[in-house]
Amino acid sequence: MPTYADALALFHEWTETESLRRHAYAVEAAMAEYAVRFGEDVERWRIAGLLHDMDYERHPTPEEHPFVGVKELEARGYDEEIRAAILGHALYSGVPRETAMAKTLFAVDEHAGIVTAVAQVRPYGLDGLAPRSVSTKLKDKRLAAAISSDHTRRGADDLEL
Ligand SMILES: [Fe+2]
Repeated sequence: MPTYADALALFHEWTETESLRRHAYAVEAAMAEYAVRFGEDVERWRIAGLLHDMDYERHPTPEEHPFVGVKELEARGYDEEIRAAILGHALYSGVPRETAMAKTLFAVDEHAGIVTAVAQVRPYGLDGLAPRSVSTKLKDKRLAAAISSDHTRRGADDLEL
């Protein structure tokens, strides 16, 4: 199984777009936090978060993403749990989210986008941003149009949070 440093190098090789990199780092950070909360392996959860969209820049269509990336990960020795979690974060893959890692990745992916969107319109970004402000923003019609509230709700429900 590759290390976090290997995963980071692979991620940088496949993803050059700054916004996509930032999204991956946000998902990685959220995965790390939940790994601590659930008593799971932080490095493995970080890797799943970091690499979940690794093929998106080169292969953004639903025919290829995240299948091409997962194939690459398999060739490089990333294990089944991580690969299944990455496949499962795309609803259309048909791969069920059975592990805590998979359920969490699905939940935090959309949520990371919302937190980032909220932070971008604040003078100090993430600094001092309260969870309540994010929840309030979820009810904002303009933001709601850009995100899938159902998706966000479903991810939280799967985690029973
Ligand atoms: Fe994502």
